[in-house]
Amino acid sequence: MLEVQDLGIRFGGLHAVKDVTASIPAGQITAIIGPNGAGKSTFFNLISGFYQPTSGRIQFAGEDITRLKTHEVVSRGIARTFQTTTIYRELSVLENAMIGHRVRTRAGLLDALLRTGRERQDVQGSRDGAMAALTRVGLAAQAHLPAGALTQEGQKRVGIAMALSSDPKLLLLDEPAAGMNPEETVNLMALIRELVAGGLTVALVEHKMSLVMGLADQILVLHHGQKIAQGTPAQVSRDPAVIEAYLGSHAHGGQMGQTTPAETTLQKGGAHA
Ligand SMILES: Nc1ncnc2c1ncn2[C@@H]1O[C@H](COP(=O)(O)OP(=O)(O)O)[C@@H](O)[C@H]1O
Ligand SMILES: [Mg+2]
Repeated sequence: MLEVQDLGIRFGGLHAVKDVTASIPAGQITAIIGPNGAGKSTFFNLISGFYQPTSGRIQFAGEDITRLKTHEVVSRGIARTFQTTTIYRELSVLENAMIGHRVRTRAGLLDALLRTGRERQDVQGSRDGAMAALTRVGLAAQAHLPAGALTQEGQKRVGIAMALSSDPKLLLLDEPAAGMNPEETVNLMALIRELVAGGLTVALVEHKMSLVMGLADQILVLHHGQKIAQGTPAQVSRDPAVIEAYLGSHAHGGQMGQTTPAETTLQKGGAHA
């Protein structure tokens, strides 16, 4: 579904993503893991058009999307959540999802809020799209509550609904389980599985190894911007280069997995897979 070839971006002297060739197959869950600063979020920023690559190509559903702008990428069927999603706590859950819809389609945030001029006629369409997205994440009954009244997990679901409201084929989730407790994490995993069962393709960046190992069909491992492994959870968890990358970053105080040492986390995950 999505193919990247020799993808790279430099920030001054720093190669945040370098020569990455990888694919995200349709109908699967692909996890992107790697120590902090490995280039995971940057990889998503490249795919979603937030950053322009300094080298390489991105193909989606057979089309070259390398130079497209964010809204053009969205219209092709790629949506994303952010590591920290901005939720308007005073607005209703539905209004938040509608803003997601309109920001991701053609109207700006101001238009969405003010509903001026020709934008007015699109409100119903946005409302329908947003409501459908809320139904998919299990928030239909909470649509009229203020978003700030939801639990942490509920607010994460709003963030996912905001992305789903453009009805994407590929959904990119950047650390969806951050800040969640184990029970919420399990619920989130179930939601992601449901979405994929419904035909969505998902790629996610995640630190929680239990989630990654229990959910992903394939894992792409980045380290210093480069791909060091790609394979099933079982393959990746016993890959010497991966173990080395995680141990190395642990030795230097980097964050990996959760609070447990990476080796343990990886082995535990491997046993799960
Ligand atoms: N806009 C930017 N300008 C300069 N450096 C950046 C920018 N975005 C990311 N980086 C750098 O690129 C590297 C990879 O960052 P990031 O993709 O956020 O890592 P990860 O998500 O894997 O933790 C880091 O060294 C980060 O500081
Ligand atoms: Mg990141």
